[in-house]
Amino acid sequence: MQECWLPKHKNGFLMSPDPISDLTKIETGLPLAVSKELEEIASKLPNLISSNEIRKTLQDIKTFDLSPLRNADDSRIVERAFQIYAHLANAYVWCEEDNPTDHIPEGVAVPLVELAKIVERPPIIPYASTALSNFERIDPKGEIVVENLRCIQKLIDIQDESWFHLIHVEIEAHAGSISQACILATLAIEQNDTKNIEAELLRIPRAFNKMITTFKRMFEKCSPDIYFHTLRPYLFGFTDIVYIGVEEFKGKPQTYRGESGAQSTVIPAIQAFLGLRHEKGGLTEHLEIMKAYMPKPHRELLNNVDQRKIRDFIITCKKGELVDAYNSCLQGLFKFRSLHLKMAHAYVAQKVSNPIGTGGTEFMRWLKQLRDETEKQYI
Ligand code: HEM
Repeated sequence: MQECWLPKHKNGFLMSPDPISDLTKIETGLPLAVSKELEEIASKLPNLISSNEIRKTLQDIKTFDLSPLRNADDSRIVERAFQIYAHLANAYVWCEEDNPTDHIPEGVAVPLVELAKIVERPPIIPYASTALSNFERIDPKGEIVVENLRCIQKLIDIQDESWFHLIHVEIEAHAGSISQACILATLAIEQNDTKNIEAELLRIPRAFNKMITTFKRMFEKCSPDIYFHTLRPYLFGFTDIVYIGVEEFKGKPQTYRGESGAQSTVIPAIQAFLGLRHEKGGLTEHLEIMKAYMPKPHRELLNNVDQRKIRDFIITCKKGELVDAYNSCLQGLFKFRSLHLKMAHAYVAQKVSNPIGTGGTEFMRWLKQLRDETEKQYI
């Protein structure tokens, strides 16, 4: 059921209740000694990477039996274990950027694939593990704002890394009112309640404004250079990697896409709700594939959005104030995509002559196309 991923008004697509940060502090169904070993290696990960001991340590790690987690009554427990193993796998493969391995050792590969089956996502770091479930509140009663958050799982443990992920977390929290507005506007259409449709639609550009304000703060504590050279290399996908000891793969190398904001459900959900169409091509194909990396309840939500409902209603009823409200949502998305394009340029494209995103795409041309096609669909 994966209850922790059911979208909530307050937190949007973030894990809710807040993620579990330490498996030793709760009843997991695993022996305490196993939880302790996992949390210990998870917290030592940045040190193991910087001292160049990560591959040796992970080659020797025991293959823990995680089958008790199949019956865990809180899906956040499985997510924390998955987050740890996924980080170990990416660290193992990418700790020497110019010398990636062709395999993941058994002690990491077998539990990771077991957990991947439970969470129903590929066995590699996704956005759900770096952002959506990678935060804890400093003041438990405080808001989800970057100053009140710290990351649970780190790879390098520098401020730029935490800031990068936590800015995403705050953006996702602001987006919570968008998903709520989409649901309530859809209900209001069923009742032909134009006043409420307008009121709900108008919440969407306000949420985008907050998301944009937060996004612009990325520069404050995450330097594009450090992101590009230090964090990003760990987030790439896997090409032809053997998961040692995983019977069902029969020794066959596996290929998966890398972690990317394209695995966030916020933008695809609003795009579907507004009934926007994009020219099919490399990026739309990539974005379809990205859905498999989203938590299952998020994928299901995307599949269930009635894509033409709001747009057709507004085109048919032709009320000026509804058209304006709809267009202001589109403008919010356009502004977000324009800023996103600038950020993708500052943090990635300007560093290289032929940029490929962590997701593995030639993204600048495609992101521009998405932004421009958004603008063309005003009513
Ligand atoms: C400095 C921060 C960011 C950088 C450098 C960045 C970079 C990229 C890149 C290179 C792509 C191309 C596709 C791929 O390679 O997977 C992409 C796509 C995407 N990113 Fe980001 N991104 C950033 C922040 C965000 C944030 C905060 C969000 C929203 C939660 C987001 C959401 C998306 C989405 C939805 C796509 C797919 C294209 C679209 O629908 O507009 N990104 N990003």
